[in-house]
Parts: sequence; C-alpha cells; structure tokens
Amino acid sequence: MRCLADGRYHSGETLGALLGVSRAAVWKRLQKLAAFGLDVESVRGKGYRLPGGLRLLDEDALAQAMAAAGGTPGALSLHLYDVTDSTNADALALSRPGLSQPLAVLAEYQRAGRGRRGRAWQSPYGRNLYLSYAESFAGGAAALDGLSLVVGVVVAETLSDAGLADRVQLKWPNDIWVDGRKLGGILVELAGDMDGVCVPVIGIGINGALSDAAAAAIDQPWTDLTRELGEAPDRSRLAGALLAGLQQALVMFRQQGFTAFSDRWRRYDCCAGADVTVQLGERRITGLARGVNAQGALQVEVDGVLQQFHGGEVSVRPLR
Ligand code: BTN
Repeated sequence: MRCLADGRYHSGETLGALLGVSRAAVWKRLQKLAAFGLDVESVRGKGYRLPGGLRLLDEDALAQAMAAAGGTPGALSLHLYDVTDSTNADALALSRPGLSQPLAVLAEYQRAGRGRRGRAWQSPYGRNLYLSYAESFAGGAAALDGLSLVVGVVVAETLSDAGLADRVQLKWPNDIWVDGRKLGGILVELAGDMDGVCVPVIGIGINGALSDAAAAAIDQPWTDLTRELGEAPDRSRLAGALLAGLQQALVMFRQQGFTAFSDRWRRYDCCAGADVTVQLGERRITGLARGVNAQGALQVEVDGVLQQFHGGEVSVRPLR
C-alpha cells in the first residue's frame, strides 16, 4: 500500500495487480487502514487515494536536520519503528539494563500511546510525531526537578522556529498549546535507580494532522500543525531539530538545573497573570497564577498568599 503515499488516485485494478489480489480484496485491505487512523478516499471512476499523501520518517533526513540544528546525531542510538505500542514503553525497556549512550525511539504509529494521568494518546499512522528520548542522570530523581518544563521550552522553541512564533504556549507543567488548544504533550517517565543513576524517558507527542476518528476520541480542545500552519512541517526535520534542542538543553540542565531556563519558560507561560484552578486529587484550589519558582513549581496566589504546586492538573480561565 506504499504507493498510496503519493496522495494520488490509484484504481482498484492497479492496486489489485500490485498486491496480487482481487478488487474486492483491495477494498477490504483499504478498510483495514482505517484502523490505523488513515482515511482512504474512494471516488467512482478514479479509484482510491490518501488525501495529502504520506511522508514517512527518514533516518538520513532526521540526522541531517539534527546536525543542522547544532546536534550530534552520532552521539545517539536511534530506533525508528513503523508500528509499536508506545515509544515511551520501548525507551523504558531499552533503558532498563543501563544506557551506554542516549537513545531516541520514534514510530509512525502507536497501538497504545500513553498520555499523562493514565490517559491514552491518540496516535494515528504517519501524520503525527511520536518521539521518546532517554539519557542517564547520576544523582537520582532529585536531580530531575523541572526537567519536564525544560522539555516544554525545547518543544516550544522548536515549534516557534517551524512557524509558530508568538503563537505557541506552554500550560504548566508542559502542555503545548496554540490559542487554548492542545497541539502536543510531554510525558516523562523514569527508569533505573531513583536514588542513584536514573534514566528519564522523555516522551513527546505533536499532532501533525489528526484524522476525524482520532480527533473524536480527544476529550479537550485540540489542534494540529496542518490546521495552524496550513501544512505540517516534515516530521523527520522536526524530530531532528527537537533532538538537537534536547541534547543542548540537557547539557545546560545538568550543569545549572531549571533556573537556567526560567526566563525562556516565562516567554511561553500561558498561565501567568490568569485565574487558574489546580485540581489535586479531590481538592480544587483557585487563585492567580504567578509563574514558576526556581525548581519549576507552579506559584498561585490564593487569598493573598503564594502557594507552590509540584503536581496537579491546571485549568486556565481568561486573563484578567
Ligand atoms: C500528555 O498527555 O500530554 C502527554 C502525551 C505524550 C505522548 C507521547 S507520544 C510519544 C511518547 N510515547 C507515548 O506513549 N507517549 C509519549
């Protein structure tokens, strides 16, 4: 079915001949693509096509983009999968025995993409970015305070360069937003020894073009790069730029921690100065968001007193 990647019409006869099956069997196979989140269009007299075509991930293009953005592709062990359950699950499994060098896992499709708070992450085939990056940190989990916000900064800066300057925002701790709609998310999971050498697995999901079926399964306002930019940037290039950004940011984070990123984070903070509600288990706390502290904790002014939050789900009301 690779020929459908060109986005053009192919007749049932042509596809049948390519696959060595009847026209009826072609139709059945095409229906199976819907299970991967691909909407195949069928027009009488013209045949079948995949609107917009597909540009699959390409290792060389990724490495080139990474080098062009100041990264070092050779320092990374890169795993490019077609279909997997979750790139974070893969990176965690690969990290468990210990890492001799950083690694990245990317996939075209995730059967069981994981979001924060046990949610599923919609992962249709070939249109979005599913990327996990892992490297070792001595000093245990305590050395990782604010890491997920640093990743948010890298994603926001990369997306700014890709055409979303002045539009992309971060909702604490690390939702990627455009105009109040979620464009992407970050899930950091930990492998290794929480008190010794531990390996944060940084999972990044960015919506390139969501199919109607995938979008229907999302329970919050969402958007994708195609809607925001007219056309989604090439995913291999975007991944290369993100990985270069992560490599560079993590060097600085190891030396200086989150403090070195607080100004950069502030540039994208969509909560600062807004009324927010923090949901902490059964508790709901409402107040005025006052940015983040040196460790990346959210600061909220409640009845004139500044409170710090290290976890919780934040919702934002319009700016005062
Ligand atoms: C969120 O809920 O906002 C976080 C979403 C993180 C999704 C990414 S996609 C790549 C990586 N693999 C996963 O299973 N999840 C993360």
